[in-house]
Amino acid sequence: SSLQHACEEPAFSEHKDKEYADVDWDKLGFGLVPTDYMYVMKCAKDSVFERGRINPYGNIELSPSAGVLNYGQGLFEGLKAHRKENGSLLLFRPEQNAIRMRYGAERMCMPSPTVDQFIDAVKQTALANKRWVPPPGRGSLYIRPLLVGSGPILGLSPSPEYTFMIYASPVRNYFKEGTAPLNLYVEEKFDRASRGGTGGVKTISNYAPVLKALTSAKERGFSDVLYLDSVSRRNIEEVSSCNIFMLKGNVLSTPATKGTILSGITRRSIIELSRDLGYEVEERVIPVEELLEADEVFCTGTAVVVASVGSITYQDRRIEFRTGGRMACRELYETLVGIQTGEIEDKH
Ligand code: COI
Repeated sequence: SSLQHACEEPAFSEHKDKEYADVDWDKLGFGLVPTDYMYVMKCAKDSVFERGRINPYGNIELSPSAGVLNYGQGLFEGLKAHRKENGSLLLFRPEQNAIRMRYGAERMCMPSPTVDQFIDAVKQTALANKRWVPPPGRGSLYIRPLLVGSGPILGLSPSPEYTFMIYASPVRNYFKEGTAPLNLYVEEKFDRASRGGTGGVKTISNYAPVLKALTSAKERGFSDVLYLDSVSRRNIEEVSSCNIFMLKGNVLSTPATKGTILSGITRRSIIELSRDLGYEVEERVIPVEELLEADEVFCTGTAVVVASVGSITYQDRRIEFRTGGRMACRELYETLVGIQTGEIEDKH
């Protein structure tokens, strides 16, 4: 069955009469553009989520002792809705995000919405904010589900109450470079994840710890940071905001997800599409020294999509990669975006 999820016409929107919100679509990057509505659903500890609702977008009230504020009990997801030429909206593999949130919730001792509840909530949020979905070819609506411990707690234990929320923002390119090749910096002082930790699930607490390395790399002109495994600091893991792939000959390789690497939905999609397109794909340990010998390097992520890497700086050596001519990453980008926008059928 096709996993392309079409959204039915809005059941709920005060702005039905206006096709588009007042946005300069050409100025879209990855900054927050607040939209009209958000989804909210609550549930008590040891209970299940039952009914959520679409509310006007706005600040939420939270106890200062909420579990998420004090102990970081929270998860997030990210997915996109694209507008088709006929005006309908298309979601890309939302069930994958739903499944990943359930997996992460188990790790973080939280109840989570069922796959159906999650998908239904995502559809409602996308449709309620339909006028914020960019015109075809000019970006997408980034949808951000959150699951947090919202109940008050002082001693270290799971929150007594949980809130599942979804907000959305129109976006285009993640990096300020636009679609220009990225310059990555290999971090050797800070680690992103450790064995037995939460690097493999989408907890909010995986992201603040990379801000220091990321900010410092950006100040020095890099686009993002590539982290190494925390045991040997010899093998590549992932980038702050995305997964990484290398091409050598006809073989595409990416680090295997063994608990320290986020199991990206775009990563999985690229693995499947590459095999369909005739590449050999390996998920394995990749020494940083081997990466530096690659024919081509690129990053994948929901926000990032497929972004080519122009250089990697490791121990004061800057290695440049091919970014022109017939690129695997270009072919994969076009196939993936074709599926996401409904121009190519999703066979998986
Ligand atoms: C995404 O790509 O959706 C993410 O969650 C990464 C985030 C740093 C923007």
